[in-house]
Amino acid sequence: MTALRVGIIGSGKLAQVRGDALAAQDGVEVVAVASRRLGNAERLAGRWNARATADHTELTGRDGIDAVLVAVPHRVQDDMVGWALAERLHTLAGGPLATTSERGRQLTDLAARHDLILEAGYEARYKSVWHSTRELLGRIGAPVSVQTVALFDQDPQSWYYDQQASGGMLVTHLTYAFLNPLRWLLGRPRVAAALGNTKRVDRPGSIRPETCTVLLDFPSDIACSMTASYVKPGNLDGWQVTIVGTEGGIELFPGDLDGGHLVYTPRVGDPVRVEGAPDGFDRQVAAFRAAARTGTAVGTALLNPAGDALEDLLICDEIELML
Ligand SMILES: NC(=O)c1ccc[n+]([C@@H]2O[C@H](COP(=O)([O-])OP(=O)(O)OC[C@H]3O[C@@H](n4cnc5c(N)ncnc54)[C@H](OP(=O)(O)O)[C@@H]3O)[C@@H](O)[C@H]2O)c1
Repeated sequence: MTALRVGIIGSGKLAQVRGDALAAQDGVEVVAVASRRLGNAERLAGRWNARATADHTELTGRDGIDAVLVAVPHRVQDDMVGWALAERLHTLAGGPLATTSERGRQLTDLAARHDLILEAGYEARYKSVWHSTRELLGRIGAPVSVQTVALFDQDPQSWYYDQQASGGMLVTHLTYAFLNPLRWLLGRPRVAAALGNTKRVDRPGSIRPETCTVLLDFPSDIACSMTASYVKPGNLDGWQVTIVGTEGGIELFPGDLDGGHLVYTPRVGDPVRVEGAPDGFDRQVAAFRAAARTGTAVGTALLNPAGDALEDLLICDEIELML
C-alpha cells in the first residue's frame, strides 16, 4: 500500500511531538512543514527530511499530500482546518475540534460532505492508562462519584491566555482535562452547575474564566465534580481523576506527555498500581492513518471523530450559560 503523504501546519511544541509520531508510523510519510515563519518550518522539517514552506497552500499543489496535521493556535486552526477540508485532505486537528460549537458544526458537516476524516487532537482516549481505567471500571461495582482536578501553570504571555486566539480555557483545557476522556468512559453528562473566576491574569481580551468548577451528572446517576484551571502555584499537585464505585476505587494520575499511572483499590485487598505508557500520540496517528486509508471512521479505531468531538464544544456552551 502506498504511504499516506502528510503535511504539517505549525512548528511549535506539539507539531514536533505529533510529527515524530507520524514519521515513526509505518505507511506514513511526513513530506512538508508549513509555518508562519520559514525558519521555524525549516528547523522542524529537517527532523524528517521534509520540505519547508511559509505558505500552507503549497502543501496541496507542490507537495501533493493526502492528509494534514494542523498544530497552531485554535483560532488559526479554525481557518486552516476549513482550508484543508476544502482541499479534500483528511485532517488531524491538534487541539479541540474548533474554538466554537458553531465552527465545529460547520467543519463536521464539511468533512461528512466530502467523506473526509476529521479527528480532534485529544490523545488521552488512546493512552494505555485510560484504557486500563476503562477495564477496571468493571471491577469497582456501580460507579458512584468522580472528582477531577486539572491545574496547569499556563504562560500568561502565550496565545493560550488570549480568549479569541485559543477559544478560552474551557474549550482548550477543561475539555482536554478531563471532559473528553471521561465522556469516553462514562457517556454524555448533563451539566448541573458551574462556577468560574478570573484572578491571576485579568486584562482586556484574556481568557474568562481562568478557573472553573463544574458539576456533571453522568449517565446512571454518577455525580462528578471537575475543576480545571490555569492557576497552579509552584509544585502543587493538581492533575488527578478519582473514580469511586460501590466495590472499589481508581485514582488515576494520567500524566500529560508522559504515560501516567493509576492505583486501583478494591473493597477488600491491597491497592494495585498500574503503570501507563506515553503511547497516546502513536496510537492516535495509527488510527488516523488507518481511517484515512479507508476513508471512513466507521469500523476503525478512531476515537475522536468530528461528530463526537463536537459534543465537547456543546457541553462548553452549556457550562458558559451557567457562569
Ligand atoms: N495533547 C496535548 O497534550 C497538547 C498539549 C499542548 C498543546 N496541544 C495542542 O497542540 C496545538 C499546538 O499547540 P502548541 O502548544 O504546539 O503551540 P505553539 O508551541 O505555541 O506553536 C504554535 C505554532 O502555530 C504557528 N502559528 C502561530 N500563529 C500563527 C498564525 N497566525 N498563522 C499561522 N501559524 C501560526 C506558529 O508558527 P511560527 O512559529 O512559524 O510563528 C507555531 O509554530 C494546539 O491545538 C494545542 O491545543 C496539545
